[in-house]
Amino acid sequence: PLVNTGDLVSAAAAEGRGIAAFNVITLEHAEAIAAGAETAGAPAILQISENAVTFHGGTLSAIAAATAAVARASSAPLSLHLDHVVTGALLRAAADEGFSSVMYDASRLAHGRNIEATEDAVRWAHERGLWIEAELGKVGGKEGEAPLDAHAPGVRTDPEEAAAYVTATGVDALAVAVGSSHAMTQRTATLDHTLIAALREAVPVPLVLHGSSGVPDEEIRAAVAAGMVKINVGTALNTAFTGAVRAFLDADAKTVDPRKYLAPAREAMSATVAGFLGLL
Ligand code: G3H
Ligand code: ZN
Repeated sequence: PLVNTGDLVSAAAAEGRGIAAFNVITLEHAEAIAAGAETAGAPAILQISENAVTFHGGTLSAIAAATAAVARASSAPLSLHLDHVVTGALLRAAADEGFSSVMYDASRLAHGRNIEATEDAVRWAHERGLWIEAELGKVGGKEGEAPLDAHAPGVRTDPEEAAAYVTATGVDALAVAVGSSHAMTQRTATLDHTLIAALREAVPVPLVLHGSSGVPDEEIRAAVAAGMVKINVGTALNTAFTGAVRAFLDADAKTVDPRKYLAPAREAMSATVAGFLGLL
């Protein structure tokens, strides 16, 4: 069934568990996430990023409606989240498309402007009953950005600053920089677990780990034990999807029916989803 992100995150936080959020690009991603959640017997968050909306021609409705339909038809509790929104118009469109939550990403702005813009977004979201996440301390590696060294001093969230930011903005969850980086295809990131514990102490709302595709299993388990709640996974699904398509097409020069290679690609994503869910 389609459920609310806020309820999934609150339940996970109360029980000291993690809740995974997987990025949807195509219909097959949504189907694979639902199948993986059913296999694992776990809830999950289906998230669509602004980048994915742009890929679909800037129209939120079609991919959102398809993803919501997959969630409604599933036996697993699944919610719909709009991820990494930087455009105000897209943020406002979320209210009409079945989303129960949004991540407003003002992390590219200077600190003062980040607070102001996020405060406005929070006011708007809460008036409509939407749960809202924001980011402080940049998790690097998004497309078009200069790659950041995950261990560079600038790529960490300060606990005191994080607590003040949450109080000033009223966000429901906070994405923090603790050593992960977006779009990693190898699971080689090392997280700062002492910092995660300090952030959990200081920050009154659930913490979100972005770029979890690059984080090894044991590091994810330790991060959840230290207080990380929402675990965002995108690239790992694409690695599985593309790997399966490539293997199929490398071995077969004749097939033209996309279902022949999308089926194993969807299977591979579903197994990846179940693997992540098994950690939480
Ligand atoms: O918001 C989405 C996530 O942070 C996904 O990051 O693609 O590196 O797993 P990833
Ligand atoms: Zn992210």
